[in-house]
Amino acid sequence: MTPTAPPEDQLETLRRMMAERGPAARVIAVTSGKGGVGKTNVAVNLAVAAAQGGRRVILVDLDLGLANADVVLGVRPTATLAHVLSGRRDVADALTPAHGIQLLAGASGLEAIANLDDEARGRLQEALERLHRRADLIVVDTGAGISRNVIEFAATADETIVVTTPEPTSLVDAYATIKLLAGRECGGPVRVLVNQAWDREEADRVSAGIVTVAQRFLGRRVDRLGYVLRDEAVGRAVRVKIPLMIGEPRSLAAGCLRNVAGRVMRIPARVPQAGGFLARLKSFLSRSA
Ligand SMILES: Nc1ncnc2c1ncn2[C@@H]1O[C@H](COP(=O)(O)OP(=O)(O)O)[C@@H](O)[C@H]1O
Ligand SMILES: [Mg+2]
Repeated sequence: MTPTAPPEDQLETLRRMMAERGPAARVIAVTSGKGGVGKTNVAVNLAVAAAQGGRRVILVDLDLGLANADVVLGVRPTATLAHVLSGRRDVADALTPAHGIQLLAGASGLEAIANLDDEARGRLQEALERLHRRADLIVVDTGAGISRNVIEFAATADETIVVTTPEPTSLVDAYATIKLLAGRECGGPVRVLVNQAWDREEADRVSAGIVTVAQRFLGRRVDRLGYVLRDEAVGRAVRVKIPLMIGEPRSLAAGCLRNVAGRVMRIPARVPQAGGFLARLKSFLSRSA
């Protein structure tokens, strides 16, 4: 039996509802223990790769200490998160288009989220709510994870990517970050990404080590998201201010990042829990008030 097509007015109502509500975006926080491991390059290039795969992507630079996603993207934003938090700009007018994605640029020297006043907090919640409705994917460059704020924010995301290099210092700090995340009951899946690996064997050894230690000592499951090889093309791309995926798409690191982006897209989004990202964000903002 063939189902009867809904009458035009029902279709129209459905379309209007979809347009009003919009599908909820998936929110991915990119963090690390140590600074300088490649978070921003990973966040920017994952975002660009996802956009190349047809997703509507917004990159939010929430590294309040060292915001520089705009530099890696090679754009000069006329508005930043600072304008949104102070109420001078509507979030929709504060986005900077860049290589197929939209950037909500950060501003260095912004107050830590914990120190924001109630008004700024409300504006942050509202801004992220509105972005949530207009994207398929929101990638958040959060800065290094040792600060309580970053961990708390990362725990509101649907999933967190912890970036580490194979160096012992970076690994120890990545583990400390995972430990802090594990203490947050609402935190979503944690995925480890090994950046600047010499080869696949090294990356596999490193990520297997983190997965085992997290399981054994924290009882926390950590997924392996893959690796990005150490590649001079990354530094070259930063110097010419053209993202790797655009300027050097055939480089080794770009190939790795494409694989990682493909994997992220293939993993089904987490089952919505406790009201989803917006509810967790609200509870985080009110807790740290
Ligand atoms: N896969 C890689 N291969 C070589 N150099 C890299 C790689 N990833 C990052 N880098 C370099 O590491 C430095 C720090 O990267 P960045 O993304 O700014 O780190 P973070 O955001 O964690 O501070 C940059 O100079 C960048 O060129
Ligand atoms: Mg950075």
